[in-house]
Amino acid sequence: MTEPFDAPAVIATKRDGGRLPDDQIDWVVDAFTRGVVAPEQMSALAMAILLNGMERSEISRWTAAMIASGERMDFSSLSRPTADKHSTGGVGDKITLPLAPLVAACGVAVPQLSGRGLGHTGGTLDKLEAIPGWRADLSNPDMLRQLEDVGAVICAAGSGLAPADKKLYALRDVTGTVEAIPLIASSIMSKKIAEGTGALVLDVKVGSGAFMKTEADARELAETMVALGTDAGVRTVALLTDMDTPLGLTAGNAVEVAESVEVLAGGGPGDVVELTLALAREMLAAAGKDDVDPADALADGRAMDAWRRMVAAQGGDPDAPLATPRETHVVTAPESGTVGRVDAMGVGVAAWRLGAGRSRPGEDVQAAAGVVLHAKPGDEVRAGDPLLTLQTDTPERFARALEALDGAIEIGAAPAQARDVVIDRIG
Ligand code: URA
Repeated sequence: MTEPFDAPAVIATKRDGGRLPDDQIDWVVDAFTRGVVAPEQMSALAMAILLNGMERSEISRWTAAMIASGERMDFSSLSRPTADKHSTGGVGDKITLPLAPLVAACGVAVPQLSGRGLGHTGGTLDKLEAIPGWRADLSNPDMLRQLEDVGAVICAAGSGLAPADKKLYALRDVTGTVEAIPLIASSIMSKKIAEGTGALVLDVKVGSGAFMKTEADARELAETMVALGTDAGVRTVALLTDMDTPLGLTAGNAVEVAESVEVLAGGGPGDVVELTLALAREMLAAAGKDDVDPADALADGRAMDAWRRMVAAQGGDPDAPLATPRETHVVTAPESGTVGRVDAMGVGVAAWRLGAGRSRPGEDVQAAAGVVLHAKPGDEVRAGDPLLTLQTDTPERFARALEALDGAIEIGAAPAQARDVVIDRIG
């Protein structure tokens, strides 16, 4: 086959700050997926995009080209509307676990295709795999059946959805080009649009533990993604939410499952409950059910019932005891005062180094590894009080985890001004 364009010319257009024409975008994404555009050429183009940006119409075309590289799912045969949630990733972000069954209990089906963690933010599938017997891999027919019967499914995204993104993401990961807003927005939205959800709520994290460190960048990413979803016919809204501090009191795998179950039982940390309910309200409203209050389904046990059915449908035993670590190490307060800051990045990296996350794709993670927080910003502590418990099966990991926590917790005289969990809504 003769190719209509050549990669150096496409790269040069973006290198020189120009707009990529639609037919060149279609070609470069397709040719990269076919192996005709080489990884080093796509890396150069990704870097040019990171440095020079893309117009909205270019991002929209790029997203469409990534969707066209694979299959599209179709949930139109289901008897209820669908809504999904995507988080840009944060420390202690277990919200998908209580949220999917909660929204299902309110009559909206949740097809949550998730990934595994790489780096300091944990993966939803890694967390759920801490439940004995639970399986992440479902066929498309099994997924549809579970959505109809239970209303919620959290499973691995099949390799058929946006294969161009899978290939490009792997390249960005090793070429310093993950952070380009047009590439993040098109990566996330190509998968969500191809997944076929009717409504989508985006949880765009801002802060030290997030991809987006500043509110301005998070807002730009959120606005770009909302426009891409809306243009593709998906009712899309975004919440900007705080990620300076870990969510809840746990970061890791089994510890986050346990905390999610506490929320489903009507307890759990206030910030996790608040964000779960805020996202559930947005998902229900986007799916046309704004007359339903998810707080009722949390309080009366319907969300817990949906969780148990969702876990069991994927082979998991919701009553099985969760893994406990072989070793723990308690970090105590060096002085008395008010906790001013608990840095999300420090806690996330510590949990990762303890074995909760992986540093290479395909590596095993430890179910019991993670960090349990005993104090959050605003809490009073006395010298010697426990601040954190580190958990692992391999104690030689403690030293590197402790290095990550160096300076991560500040204790001072004055109460800190904690940021609200939900900072803004876009859409
Ligand atoms: N998550 C994705 O799926 N893609 C990105 O580019 C960044 C986060």
